[in-house]
Amino acid sequence: MSFLHSFALLLSLALTAYADSTPTTITVAGVPITIDGTTISVPSSSTADSAGLASIPLASAAAVACALTSLDIGSAYVESSGSEYESTVENTWNLFNSFDSPSCIVYPESSAHVQSAMKNIYRMGAKYAVQAGAHSAMVGWNSITDGVLISFARMDTTTYNPTTDTITVLPGVRWGEAADAVQEFGVSAIGGRASDVGTGLLLGGGISFMSPLYGWSADRIKEMDVVLVTGDLLTVSATNQYADLFQALKGGANRFGIVTRYGLHAAHTGTKDDKEWFGGVISYPGSAAQALSDASAKYIRETTDPKAAIPSTSQTLSPLSYHDISHLIPGDARGSGQQFGASSIVGDEALYWDAYTHFRNFSNAFTPTSLASSFFILSPIPSFQWSASGGGENAMGSPGVSYGAINYWLIYQPTVKSKPQAVQEGFELLFQQAPSTPGVPLYVNEADASQNSFATYPNYAKLQATYAKYDPLRFNVLHTEGPIGL
Ligand SMILES: Cc1cc2nc3c(=O)[nH]c(=O)nc-3n(C[C@H](O)[C@H](O)[C@H](O)COP(=O)(O)OP(=O)(O)OC[C@H]3O[C@@H](n4cnc5c(N)ncnc54)[C@H](O)[C@@H]3O)c2cc1C
Ligand SMILES: *[C@@H]1O[C@H](CO)[C@@H](O)[C@H](O)[C@H]1NC(C)=O
Repeated sequence: MSFLHSFALLLSLALTAYADSTPTTITVAGVPITIDGTTISVPSSSTADSAGLASIPLASAAAVACALTSLDIGSAYVESSGSEYESTVENTWNLFNSFDSPSCIVYPESSAHVQSAMKNIYRMGAKYAVQAGAHSAMVGWNSITDGVLISFARMDTTTYNPTTDTITVLPGVRWGEAADAVQEFGVSAIGGRASDVGTGLLLGGGISFMSPLYGWSADRIKEMDVVLVTGDLLTVSATNQYADLFQALKGGANRFGIVTRYGLHAAHTGTKDDKEWFGGVISYPGSAAQALSDASAKYIRETTDPKAAIPSTSQTLSPLSYHDISHLIPGDARGSGQQFGASSIVGDEALYWDAYTHFRNFSNAFTPTSLASSFFILSPIPSFQWSASGGGENAMGSPGVSYGAINYWLIYQPTVKSKPQAVQEGFELLFQQAPSTPGVPLYVNEADASQNSFATYPNYAKLQATYAKYDPLRFNVLHTEGPIGL
């Protein structure tokens, strides 16, 4: 897309030349653009065609959206080649997404920049994707070809306001960085457990070490700024007129708009020198799998201690500061295709062991041909997690029971460059063989793209109604990849 900058230059020259004269029409990527004085007109395809497919080729729609955004906000924020562009493309945690080539990458530094990009994407009916911490395990959820990628790489600050006890996190922050930025005040955000993971976690719900005590990470959000598909900017909270949208964003993943600011309730966890916590990661040999599965099942059923949590699976258990805990699991390894799947289980020891046994059969079938390794990760979700924060309901809604959220994590061989169909079929067979308990939410951030997490939410009907209200043309669903069900 090297024409982009030259096009922006051409258009500004054209604007100067034709400022006081008759309209002129130029063509970019096959799309006629009319310049009349200072007004630029392009064919409006997104509103005319609610099926979402632009009447002009998608690549052209995206190229024009890129060019118009570059004109609006400046070419310093819109790139179609170069080292920053390349590093964003290559930095996706999931190798499968690193082979995409966006028509351009918009690097906003403000909500207004995101508004401009989104207005042009909407107007052109272009495809798009958004990237925060880049840790999605799903193909195409944070990357795009023939579309516009919005990267939050430059919006990456964390600040703390002691008067309001609020931590403001911009979307490009990773949880380890958030912990580093505010530990001196003795506070932390309730984010994720791995330090390299980003804020997209909040939009799916978010399981923190402290979730049994404070609720889902999203339950700690006080306020958000969000840009709707139309480019309109709203500030949403539990108490303003957009309370429905606020609720939907806390578990509705990327479907409800692009969040440009998170205001979070601070947790008072101490500074990095306050070794008041005890924890670590313990690894057991495979022969201990059944004992671990049984112990987890019992823990999920019986624990009533909101200060206990089971981290996923090093070497040491020792007194730590919460800041140390925030850096226990880096999660930053790159270079392999990745995939997640989920199950939520209420039941006895046998049910968990059954899920594990089916998972072992599945993973053995594809290891080492396609898969390098795989993990079965159990996060206990106690029933009281839902009422722990007092921050209003989230998009999921409480199932009223304690359950185990299972994350099946597949790491492909580095030589596997795209998701093999046979593995996908085996994965879907596993979901049938070890079904999730009805009425209990599947965790959308850990589920496969084939799984309908939203439909498992006790609050599903409300989520659908809120989606219809804020995106009546279903622009998001038709123009960006993300969870199914809306
Ligand atoms: C190693 C590892 C450890 C993990 N540990 C945990 C854990 O402890 N607890 C937990 O709950 N989850 C965990 N997860 C899952 C994690 O919640 C998801 O992978 C999450 O989607 C990552 O968010 P991100 O910002 O890093 O990724 P991205 O890929 O950048 O974003 C994820 C999705 O959210 C969308 N998105 C991101 N930001 C915005 C925005 N501002 N507005 C609109 N849409 C947006 C993206 O388009 C994409 O669809 C882990 C994942 C990995 C890979
Ligand atoms: C084991 O997994 C393979 C691959 O998905 C599948 O074909 C087979 O039916 C499974 N066997 C059992 C007993 O579940």
